[in-house]
Amino acid sequence: MTDYKNSKLILDTANLKEGTMKWRCPSNIALIKYWGKHGIQLPRNPSISLTLDQAYTETEMTYAPKRKNDVEIDLDFFFEGEKNEKFEEKIVKFLTGISDIFPFLKQLHLTIKSHNSFPHSSGIASSASSMGALSLCLCSLESDLFGTLKNDAEFRQKASYVSRLGSGSACRSIYAHAAVWGAFGEADGSSDLYAIPYANHVHEVFKSFHDDILIVSQGEKAVSSRAGHALMEENDYADPRYKQARRRMHHLLLAMESGDLERFGTITENEALTLHALMMTSNPSYILMKPNSLEMINRIRRFRKETQHPIYFSLDAGPNIHLLYPDSCRDAAKTFIQSELLDLCENRHWIPDQCGQGPLQL
Ligand code: DP6
Repeated sequence: MTDYKNSKLILDTANLKEGTMKWRCPSNIALIKYWGKHGIQLPRNPSISLTLDQAYTETEMTYAPKRKNDVEIDLDFFFEGEKNEKFEEKIVKFLTGISDIFPFLKQLHLTIKSHNSFPHSSGIASSASSMGALSLCLCSLESDLFGTLKNDAEFRQKASYVSRLGSGSACRSIYAHAAVWGAFGEADGSSDLYAIPYANHVHEVFKSFHDDILIVSQGEKAVSSRAGHALMEENDYADPRYKQARRRMHHLLLAMESGDLERFGTITENEALTLHALMMTSNPSYILMKPNSLEMINRIRRFRKETQHPIYFSLDAGPNIHLLYPDSCRDAAKTFIQSELLDLCENRHWIPDQCGQGPLQL
């Protein structure tokens, strides 16, 4: 089993020069949701997502030989231009946890500067893009220092594996357009350990698919995804849910291959509502949707019925609505958002986005 532990990755720091690497990594929207995990960040069911474009994190990592002679991770972390102790603590913990994969990290002084393209408080989950960007920097660092990971597929697989350890959904952000995470017979090469690229198996229509994020509430979530996953372990519906996710995965992959938007949309909306139903049936139960999330869902369904435009919704673990539609509906969607949805957004805030090319080294 791939575990990427490598005790040989140790530096001779005597002549080591300072260096910098920088990556931009987008967020992603899951269509079949990852909800429930076990072991070390292993998913209970396979998931598939579209990789976004405009909602991203940029992370710059600078390394230099360590001045102290200890075995701790030595890190200065800056978020949006300011030293951030809370995030620094989380990242030190993450880097310590993966120091058997990158043992040289303990030989370096690291400075990491990170910022998001979207406001931190916008209610958009940033763990996928931030863990993706950080893991790509780590793999570039290994590649620069040791001459390893020269092949793109090998590089991305390791970046996906490492980002999964930081946040499960992050492992799918490493690939352009679409990615599958979780072992699933119908997706060749799929694994619980990392995501695989899936763009070559989906219809062209999805490569320019839109995902506009309508900000219903910018507030911090009452229950984190981490806690939500944990509650699945005692949820009475957990086992049928994991079976259902596999069935839906089968149907969705077929719909995405053939470009059957109606089937795609029906499954995608059912998945979003199932995710929230699982929260409502957890113990303790909780609700992350807001009245305006429901009102938007009703308006989207009404608009679709009246106009026949294939415009659908999804939700992350939060109240914001993701409006999904093909590029051919761009104008109709814009008019619809402006006339019927913006009034329901907090401060009329929305982030137009679409399926994109995946991470970019800067
Ligand atoms: C609802 O990836 O945020 O967005 O692995 O604990 O970091 P951790 O959880 P996270 O969960 C994301 C859940 C989701 C669905 C999805 O992206 O598949």
